[in-house]
This record gives sequence, structure tokens and C-alpha cells, in this order.
Amino acid sequence: MVVAGGINNKHLPTTKKKEKWKFPFFLLFFIRLFLIQSVLGQDWDGVVVTQADFQVLQAFKQELIDPRGFLRSWNDSGYGACSGGWAGIKCAQGQVIVIQLPWKGLGGKLTDKIGQLQALRKLSLHDNVVTGTIPQTLGVLPDLRGLQLFNNRFSGSIPPTLGSCPLLQNLDLGNNSLAGRIPDRLANATKLFRINLSYNSLSGPIPASLTHSPSLVYLDLQHNNLSGSIPDSWGSSFSPKNGTFPPPVLQYLAIAHNSLSGPIPLTISNLSSLQVLDFESNLLDGQIPEGIVNLKNLSVLNFRRNQLDGPIPETIGGIPTLTRLDLSENKLSGEIPLSLANLSRLSSFNVSYNNLSGPVPTELSSKFNSTSFVGNIQLCGYSGATPCPSPPSQTVPTQPPEKKKKLSTKDIILIAAGALLIVLLILVCVLLCCLARKRTAAKAKEGQPSTTSRAAAGVAGGEKGAPPTAAEVEAGGEAGGKLVHFDGPMMFTADDLLCATAEIMGKSTYGTVYKATLEDGSQVAVKRLREKIAKGQREFEAEVNVLGKIRHPNLLALRAYYLGPKGEKLLVFDYMSKGSLATFLHARGPETPIDWPTRMEIAQGMTRGLIYLHNNENIIHGNLTSSNVLLDERNESKIADYGLSRLMTAAANTNVIATAGALGYRAPELSKLKKANTKTDVYSLGVIILELLTGKSPGEAMNGVDLPQWVASIVKEEWTNEVFDVELMKDSTEIGDELLNTLKLALHCVDPTPSARPEVQQVLQQLEEIRPVAGGRSSGASGDDRAAVPSSSE
Ligand SMILES: *[C@@H]1O[C@H](CO)[C@@H](O)[C@H](O)[C@H]1NC(C)=O
Ligand SMILES: *[C@@H]1O[C@H](CO)[C@@H](O)[C@H](O)[C@H]1NC(C)=O
Ligand SMILES: *[C@@H]1O[C@H](CO)[C@@H](O)[C@H](O)[C@H]1NC(C)=O
Ligand SMILES: *[C@@H]1O[C@H](CO)[C@@H](O)[C@H](O)[C@H]1NC(C)=O
Ligand SMILES: *[C@@H]1O[C@H](CO)[C@@H](O)[C@H](O)[C@H]1NC(C)=O
Repeated sequence: MVVAGGINNKHLPTTKKKEKWKFPFFLLFFIRLFLIQSVLGQDWDGVVVTQADFQVLQAFKQELIDPRGFLRSWNDSGYGACSGGWAGIKCAQGQVIVIQLPWKGLGGKLTDKIGQLQALRKLSLHDNVVTGTIPQTLGVLPDLRGLQLFNNRFSGSIPPTLGSCPLLQNLDLGNNSLAGRIPDRLANATKLFRINLSYNSLSGPIPASLTHSPSLVYLDLQHNNLSGSIPDSWGSSFSPKNGTFPPPVLQYLAIAHNSLSGPIPLTISNLSSLQVLDFESNLLDGQIPEGIVNLKNLSVLNFRRNQLDGPIPETIGGIPTLTRLDLSENKLSGEIPLSLANLSRLSSFNVSYNNLSGPVPTELSSKFNSTSFVGNIQLCGYSGATPCPSPPSQTVPTQPPEKKKKLSTKDIILIAAGALLIVLLILVCVLLCCLARKRTAAKAKEGQPSTTSRAAAGVAGGEKGAPPTAAEVEAGGEAGGKLVHFDGPMMFTADDLLCATAEIMGKSTYGTVYKATLEDGSQVAVKRLREKIAKGQREFEAEVNVLGKIRHPNLLALRAYYLGPKGEKLLVFDYMSKGSLATFLHARGPETPIDWPTRMEIAQGMTRGLIYLHNNENIIHGNLTSSNVLLDERNESKIADYGLSRLMTAAANTNVIATAGALGYRAPELSKLKKANTKTDVYSLGVIILELLTGKSPGEAMNGVDLPQWVASIVKEEWTNEVFDVELMKDSTEIGDELLNTLKLALHCVDPTPSARPEVQQVLQQLEEIRPVAGGRSSGASGDDRAAVPSSSE
């Protein structure tokens, strides 16, 4: 049970020898439930731990305090250390490569001897109560890639030696009691991908060296006591190899809740991949740079609670990806630029407690309530209580009313004359200003390209060629293996994935699916494809890159893939906590009924997903079953396993069609055709709708007939009510017609003659006629899925 992740297994014993050892240990694992299992699922290579490493492990155990006895299994003379017998240890060829003991209540100290585990790749002790300092000796480990010590009680400073770990990718020391400065040398570790030092007591400045890192994607320094100004050298990493500036890869930059002062650095605009920029609660002053518009992937911009002044740059309206904009509690003045009305994805907005004036653009005041605008005395039009004054009466309310009453007619005439004069003067001014403005505007238009090109030059031409959302991360080192992220908030390295605690969820012809828990506790579904039936690497990559771009609220998103050095292929998907429709529907007790609106929503959702596959992606699913329809927390259906046949050899696909047939979802003509098409998908869809109506699984024996035949026979006998799930019959007076019409539609879908079946678009139309969409939630309803849904109801 050794992590595979590209360990150089030069002396791997033969398969025969492996088989010999396998049996008893396998049994052990089943007894202990899934302890820590690699997704690649290799077992022990049969080598006993080296004497040197054994002694380090002894010292490691001795210096820790283990109140719950998790290290009790470390009790023999070393024989069990590398065979999976010792909790949390993984080895390769007798050397410890992983120590992974999160959430174990461990106290005490981390031994200095840890630096003697020459092959250590990953040390994960997060969510314990370990105290003392982080050993300097970690810096001598040539293979260390992951150091996860977050959520402990480490004190002292960050060892500068960590910068000497040539392969270090993921450094997470968040939420400890670390003090002192962030070492300059840290950035010498040129593979660093993710740094989290948040929630400590670090002080001093942010090292400029970090701003040059060519590999850093994620930098979290929130909640410390950092001071000084923010270095102004972002994204200027020079690559001596090819003499260019590679495009900056930083996506996440959070330094909120520190004591940083000075201006917002102008070079921030070089970070073209940035998605989150969070400077909340510092002492920053000066203006917001206009160049911020170059951050074309920015989703969150938070400058809340600083001392920024000047206007809100109009250019912010040119960042269409913005979803959250918080500029509250600063000293910003001027009007809210009209351009902000263009930000169609904005779902959170706050400019309260500034010194803004003038009217709020109506698009903003209609979308956000007054708590987004309050505390700006001169701002108006965002609520009934703050009407914008009509221009001529502007001066009147400032006069105290009592004084007004005492005015004589003479005064009034004088005032009127004065007012007339002022109005005339203003008119002249306005005319002059208009003329002048036209001229400067013309000039500015000519000048504009030069300013933007200057900004672009800082990015060194990398802006266009680089795919901003697909951060490709080599796992690094001779071991090789490649992880490609498509998008999304998931920040993990290949090692994180390979070392993740994994639990088998299911097996299919294509491979095994695991639920993997990453270091931060988040979960992903990992499908390990069977190597023999997957296409070769080049073809595979071409196809998988297409699949990774498909986004629809009713299609399970492929977030990343991993290619191992020995041809292992992993696909990483969102994890759906509710599991599949099959388990949701069939593996429950009578105490958890599923009502008709829920079932209908599931049916409509999956139909929408299928339409998108057929019409927008030109993909035939070919294996649509209730096990391949997953549900998220809100019971929104997500079709899984689409397009996978493209990653497989032809032989594998024939096999899958056979399996689908055996389960009762296969259209009858497929036995001859051997090639799925839109009509065979509609047949499978019909079977699933029948499943929702009857509560019966197509796999269940029904006197030797399949589900469509069974339903058809009962309907023919006019016992129609007998087919419906008894649960649904409780409400039959209200929903009887809906059930009947849906049943007719489903039977239409499973018509034995393919040409008689409707197209999937028509299925949706009819489903929506039978039961209209609640609250118009049809398009783009679910959070991060960006693809708009071409809904038939619009
Ligand atoms: C060592 O620990 C294992 C696992 O906890 C246990 O099954 C075994 O009996 C222990 N052996 C000894 C000699 O204590
Ligand atoms: C933060 O740093 C300042 C000096 O920059 C110091 O005066 C202050 O005590 C520190 N605060 C904490 C909580 O460490
Ligand atoms: C608020 O802005 C106005 C201009 O709109 C300026 O005159 C005033 O000094 C500002 N007040 C503060 C407290 O910054
Ligand atoms: C205003 O909007 C915010 C966020 O959208 C919400 O939390 C808050 O309850 C709303 N307040 C009022 C008074 O409507
Ligand atoms: C905006 O910020 C203010 C001040 O911090 C806060 O009181 C208000 O609730 C915030 N409004 C929204 C919608 O977030």
C-alpha cells in the first residue's frame, strides 16, 4: 500500500512475489476500513524499513504526545512500518516517503531528526496540537514536496532553510503561533505552488522575492501583523532559461488583516491570472490604480477598511468577471462610475462609509439594498429615504428655514438677480468646459493605447498566448507525472492528490471511482481509468482537454486530470455528497419519501444536461443510467460519465454498451447497431423517468420483462395507477394529471421504434408544460457554473 505517484521503483519485486505478500495485508485493510489509501492503490513493495528511518520514526513517536493512541500500531521492531502496519506511514523501497497523521489529537514536539528521513516527500500533521518550533532540518530534504502543518500550535519562526527544498510545492503553516519575518529565501524554492501562512503573528514586510516567483499560484498571508508597504514588483519574474518574462500564474492573493501601509502597487495589474485579490483591513492609502482593469480574470476584489482616497476608477467596470466588489470603509470620493452597471455577474457590492457623492446608477440601486451604500452623506438615489435633489433647488435646503421667513421683498429681488447672474455664469462655464473636454477627450483617445500597451509590456507579451484558467503544474522532479487543472477553486498538487485519503465509491468498466479527501478537508471524486482500455497519452490528452471545458449546471464538471509516469490516468470531478439518483431513489427507507416536485426537478435537470450534450457539445452519452445521474446538496441533477468513451479504446466501449443493456437502460436496437445515437440516449432517459415514476429499478426482476415492458403491460390492462410509486399516490388528487402525462411522455421515449421517440429538446418542452419551472430557475441557476443554459422556456 505504497503511494505510487512516480516513485522510482527500480527494484520492484516481481508480480508473483507481490501476490504472495498481498493477501494477509489486504485482509488487514478491510478490517481497519480504509485507512490511508493511495488513489493509485498500489500495495506494499515488500521491502522492510531501513534501520536509519526506523530510528527516526522511533524518535518522532517519542517526542509526540499521543493521547488517543493513534501511534499504538508503531509497536514492532520495524517490520510493520513499511507494510502498512504503522498508521500514517508510506514507504518506497524501505524508505519513508509520507507521514500523514492529520486530525489525531497529537501534541508534543516535532523531532529535529525528521531531517534524516532522506526520501520524505510529504509531512502532514495538520489539525493537531503540536507545539515547539518547526525544525530547521526539514530544509535538507531533497524530495520534500508537501509540508502541511496548519492548525497546530507551532511557535518560533519559519525556518529559512525551507527555501532550500528544491521540490517543495505546497507549504501550509496556517493557523499556528509563528512569529518573526517571512524569510526572503523562501522563494528560492522554485516549485512552490501554494503558500499559506495565514493566521499567525508574522511581522515585518512581505519579501519582494515572493512577488517574482514564477510558480506561485496561491499566496495567503491573511491575519498576521505584516507591515511596511506592499512590494511593487509583481509578476516580473524573469526566466533566464529563455530570456523572457513568463506570464504570471498567481491566481489567489490574500493579505487581508495586516498592518500594511503605503499605496496599492501599480504592478498588481501585471497579474493577469489573478482571480482573488483581498487587501481588507490594512492601512493602505493613495488611489486605486486604473490598471486594475488588466486583471481580466478577477472575480473578487476586496479593499474594504483601508484609507484609500480619490475616485473609484471607471475602469473597474471593464472587468466582466467580477462577482464581488467591496470598497467600503475607505475615503473614496467622487461619483460611482456608471460603468459599474456593466458588471453583470456582480452578486456582492459594497461602497458604504466612504465620501462618495452624486446619484447611484439605477442598475446598482435596484440590485443592492441600502446597506451597500450607507455612510456616504452626499450619495443619493439608493433608497426611498435618499432621493436625489432636483438640480435648481439644490442651494435652498442648505439655508436655515427660519432665516428665509425674515427676508424682505427687496432681499428676494436681489437674490433673484444674483441667482440669474450665477445661472448665466454657469451656462457660460458649461459651454467652455464642454469645448475643452471635447478636445482633451480626443487627445485621450489617441493617448489611451500607449498607456495600455505600457501595462501590457510589463506582462511581456504573455497575456495573449497564455491560457489563464488552465494552470498546468508539473509534479516536478525526475519522478514526473503531470497534473492539469482546468479551473475552479481547487488548489492541489499532484502529490496532494496521490496522498489523499481515498475511499472506494464504485467500480465500472472504465475504472474505479474514489472519494478523496484533500489536505484542507475538501473532497473530490477521482476516477482512476483502467490503463489497458484507455487511449494512448497523446490522443487521451486531446480528448480530455475538450471534456474539461464543458460546463453546465446539469453536467458533472471535470476539474483536472493526472497522468502518471507509468501511464496511470486519473480524472478529478466535483464530489457529489448525495451520490447517485439510483441510491437516492432505491436505497432509502420508507421514512424518507421523495415528493413529486423533487422527482420532476431531477427529471428536468437531467434532460437539460442531455440537451446541452447533444446540441452544444455534439456528445452522445451512450451509457445514461440512474447511477450516472448524480445529485448535489440541493438535489440538482448532474449527469456524469459523459464523453468518457472518447478516452477509451473501441473495444472498451463495446463492453460498456453490453453492460448498459444488462441493466435495462439499453435501447433494443443497440444489440444490432452497436453504436449509440441521440435516440438511444432518449430511450435511456425514458427508462430513468419511468424509474422516477414507479420507484422501481430497471434491474429488479419483474416477471422476466424489463421496466418499459412491465409499465406498458399494466397500462394496457388499464390499471395505470398500479404503476406509480405508492408514495406518490398519496397526493394523487392534485398531481394525478401530471403523473399520467409524464408517464405517457416516458412511454413515448421508450418506444421500440427509434424514429417514434421524441428528441430530447421536445422531452424538456413537454416536461416543462406538465410542470412549469418553479421560480424561473432554469438558466445558470447553480453557483459557479458559468455556461448559460439555452432553456426552452425562454
Ligand atoms: C501492535 O499494534 C497492532 C495494531 O494496533 C496490534 O494489533 C498488535 O497486537 C500490537 N502488537 C503488540 C506486540 O503489541
Ligand atoms: C504588530 O507590529 C507592531 C510593530 O510593527 C507592534 O507594535 C505590535 O505590537 C504588533 N502587534 C501584535 C499583535 O503582535
Ligand atoms: C469629501 O469629498 C468632498 C468632495 O466631494 C471634499 O471636499 C471633502 O473634503 C471630502 N471629505 C473628506 C472627509 O474627505
Ligand atoms: C441587504 O442585502 C444584504 C446582502 O445582500 C442582506 O444580507 C441584508 O439582509 C439586506 N438588508 C436589508 C435590510 O434588506
Ligand atoms: C457593507 O459594509 C458595511 C460597513 O462595513 C456593513 O455594515 C454592511 O452590512 C455591508 N453591506 C453589505 C451588503 O455587505
